[in-house]
Amino acid sequence: MTTDEQTSSLKKYRVLIFAIAVAILVVGAILIAVAIIQSQAVTAQEPEKVNALANSDNECVVCHKRTTPGIVEQYGHSTMAGAEVLCEDCHEVDADYPGASEHEGTYVLNSPSSAMCDSCHVSEVAQFKSSRHALPAYVAYAGATVLTPEQLDEYGAVPEGSFNPDRSRNALYHLEGEAITKFACEDCHNIGKPAADGSTGQCSKCHLRHEFSLEQVRKPETCNHCHIGPDHPQWEIYQESAHGIAYATGGDEWNWDAEPGTLTVSDLPAATCATCHMSGFGGAGTTHDTGDRLTWYLFAPISERRPAWQDNATRMQSVCSECHNENFIKTFYTDADAAVEAVNAWVAESNEIVQPLKDNGLLTAEPFDETIDFTYFNLWHHWGRTAKFGVWMQGPDYVQWHGAYEILHDLAELREMAAEKLEAAGIAPSAE
Ligand code: HEC
Ligand code: HEC
Ligand code: HEC
Ligand code: HEC
Ligand code: HEC
Ligand code: HEC
Ligand code: HEC
Ligand code: HEC
Repeated sequence: MTTDEQTSSLKKYRVLIFAIAVAILVVGAILIAVAIIQSQAVTAQEPEKVNALANSDNECVVCHKRTTPGIVEQYGHSTMAGAEVLCEDCHEVDADYPGASEHEGTYVLNSPSSAMCDSCHVSEVAQFKSSRHALPAYVAYAGATVLTPEQLDEYGAVPEGSFNPDRSRNALYHLEGEAITKFACEDCHNIGKPAADGSTGQCSKCHLRHEFSLEQVRKPETCNHCHIGPDHPQWEIYQESAHGIAYATGGDEWNWDAEPGTLTVSDLPAATCATCHMSGFGGAGTTHDTGDRLTWYLFAPISERRPAWQDNATRMQSVCSECHNENFIKTFYTDADAAVEAVNAWVAESNEIVQPLKDNGLLTAEPFDETIDFTYFNLWHHWGRTAKFGVWMQGPDYVQWHGAYEILHDLAELREMAAEKLEAAGIAPSAE
C-alpha cells in the first residue's frame, strides 16, 4: 500500500465513522424526544382517583365486593368514601324504620330516602324540597289527594307548587293506565315521589348512584333524561344554542370537578343547564331550588309572572353577566319578555275559538277522545311552550318551525273544526 492509498482509506474510515456517529446522534435525539413527549403525556393525564375502599375491612364492603362489586368500585372512587362516609350512613336503619328490611344481622333501606342525606346535607335537601322537582313533580301525575297532612303543608310551602294550572295531563295518566305510565310519567316525575318514611324525592335521579360525581351531575346529559321531547325540549334547544355548541365541541377540556361554589369561566367557558339553574356562579350561590332564578311560569298555557320574580331575575342575570355585558342581557330579557307575550296572545286566541263550543256543550265531557282535544292541547302544550323555551334558551328552530309555525297551523285547524261543529249544531259562528 502506498502512503497515498493509506491516507485515502484512512479518509474513507473517517467518513464512515463520522456517518455512524451522526446516525447514533440522530437516533439518540429521536429516542430522547419520544421519551420527553411520553413523560409529558403522563404528567398531563389526571392522577388516578384512589379507591378509598381498597383496603377496607368494613363488613358491608368486604361482602359486597363479592356480591355487587360494581357498587363498591363506584362508591370507592367517590368524594364521600374519601371523607369516610360509610355504606351504613345511608343504608342502615332501626328495625322499626318505615321500609326497613332485615339484612345480615341488621336492617337496611334498599333505596335510601332523602331523609338519610338530610342528616348531613341539610341545606341541599331543604332547597330541593322547596322546588318543583319535589312534591309538585309527584302531584303532577298522582294528584294532591294522596298526600299526608304534613306533605300537604310541605307542598303548599313550595312557592311554585300551588300554581298548577292544568289538570288535563293528569287525565292522560289515568287514560293511559299503569302498565304504560310506570315507564312514562312516573319515571320522570318520581324525582319528587315521597318515600316510605314520608321524606320527599329521589336525589339519585340526578346523582346516579354510587359515584356521586360532580362531573356527571353537572353535565347536561343528566338533565336530558327528563327535559327532552316535544313538550319540554330543553335538551334539544340547548344542543342548537351557542352554549350547547361550545359544550359539544370543547366540553372535554373543561374543569368539571371544581369544588362547588368556586366555579368560574375558566372552569366552564360557556353555560350548561346546571350553570344557569343550579351552580354557584358569579353572584348566584349554589342551589337545589331550580325555580330560584326564573321569572315566568313558562310551562303554563298562558304564562304569568312568578312570586318574587325580580329577585329571581337578578340571580339569573348575575350568572349571565360573568360572560355577557349588562346591556346585552337587559336587551335579551326585554325581547324575550315580548316573545312570551306574543305566545300568550296566540293561546288566548285558541281559548276564544274553543269557548263557544264549551258554552254550547259541543265538546264531549271526556278529555282526549276527539281530534279537537288534541289540537287544542298541542297548540299550547307542545308548540306554545316550545316556542317560549326556545326563546329563553336560544333554540331558533324551536321558536320557529317547532313553535310559532305549528301554532299558526293549529289555530287554522281549530277555527275550521270549531266552525264545523257550530254549523252542525245550527249555531251561527260569532261575528269576527
Ligand atoms: C355476608 C355478605 C353480606 C354482608 C355482610 C352485607 N350484604 Fe348486603 N347483600 C348481600 C347479598 C348476597 C345481597 C343480594 C345481592 C343480589 O340480590 O344480587 C345483598 C343485598 C343488599 C342490598 C340490596 C337489597 C335489595 O333487595 O335491593 C343492600 C342495600 C345491601 N345489601 C346493603 C348492605 C349494607 C349496607 C351492608 C352493611 C351493613 C350489607 N349489605 C352487608 C350480602 C351481604
Ligand atoms: C351516600 C349514600 C349512599 C352510600 C354511602 C351507599 N349507598 Fe347504596 N344506595 C344509595 C341509594 C340512594 C340507592 C338507591 C338508588 C336507587 O334506588 O336508584 C342505593 C342502592 C344500593 C343497592 C341496591 C341497588 C341495586 O342495584 O341492587 C345496593 C346493593 C347498595 N346500595 C349497596 C351499597 C354498599 C355496599 C355501599 C357501601 C360500599 C353503599 N351502598 C353505599 C345510597 C348510598
Ligand atoms: C354521614 C354524612 C353523609 C350522608 C348520610 C350523605 N353524605 Fe354526601 N357528603 C358527605 C361528606 C362528608 C361529603 C364530602 C364533602 C367534601 O369533602 O367536600 C359529601 C359530599 C357529597 C356530594 C359532593 C360530592 C363531590 O364530589 O364533591 C354529593 C353530591 C353528595 N354528598 C350527595 C349525597 C346524597 C345524595 C346523599 C343521600 C343519598 C348523601 N350525600 C348522604 C356526607 C354525607
Ligand atoms: C320525559 C320525562 C317526562 C315524562 C315522561 C312526563 N313528564 Fe310531565 N314534565 C316533565 C318535565 C321536565 C316538566 C317540566 C316542564 C317545565 O317546567 O318546563 C313536566 C311538566 C309537567 C306538568 C306541569 C307541571 C305542573 O305542576 O302543572 C304536568 C301536570 C305533568 N308534567 C304531568 C305529566 C303526566 C301526567 C305525564 C304522563 C302522562 C307526564 N307528565 C310525563 C317531564 C316528564
Ligand atoms: C336536578 C338534579 C339534581 C337533584 C335532583 C339533586 N341534585 Fe345535588 N347537585 C346537582 C348539581 C348539578 C350539583 C352541582 C352544583 C354545582 O355545579 O356546584 C349538585 C351538588 C350537590 C352537592 C354538593 C354541593 C356542595 O355545595 O358541596 C350535594 C351535597 C348534593 N348535590 C346533594 C343532593 C341531595 C341530598 C339531593 C336530594 C335531596 C340532591 N342533591 C338532588 C343536581 C341535583
Ligand atoms: C328524573 C327527571 C328529571 C331530571 C333528571 C331533571 N329534572 Fe328538572 N324537572 C323535572 C320535572 C318533572 C319538572 C317539573 C315538575 C312539576 O311537575 O312541577 C322539572 C322542572 C325543572 C325546572 C323548572 C323549575 C320551576 O320552578 O319551574 C328546572 C329549571 C329544571 N327542572 C332544571 C333541571 C336541571 C338543570 C336538571 C339537570 C341538572 C334537571 N332539571 C334534571 C324532572 C327532572
Ligand atoms: C344560558 C342559561 C341557560 C341554559 C344553558 C339553560 N337554561 Fe333553562 N332557562 C334559562 C332561562 C333564562 C329561562 C327562563 C327564565 C325565566 O322564566 O325568567 C329558562 C327556563 C327553563 C325552564 C322552564 C321553566 C318553566 O317556567 O317552565 C326549564 C325547565 C329549564 N330552563 C331547564 C333547562 C335545562 C334542562 C337545560 C339544559 C338542557 C337548560 N335549562 C339550559 C336559562 C338557561
Ligand atoms: C360561562 C359563560 C356564559 C354564561 C354564564 C352565559 N353565556 Fe351566553 N354565551 C356564552 C358563549 C361562549 C357564547 C357563544 C359565543 C358568542 O356568541 O360570542 C354565548 C352566546 C349567547 C347568546 C347568543 C349570542 C349570539 O350572538 O348569537 C345569547 C343570546 C346568550 N349567550 C345569552 C345568555 C344568557 C341570557 C345568559 C344567562 C341566562 C348567558 N348567555 C349565560 C357564554 C356564556
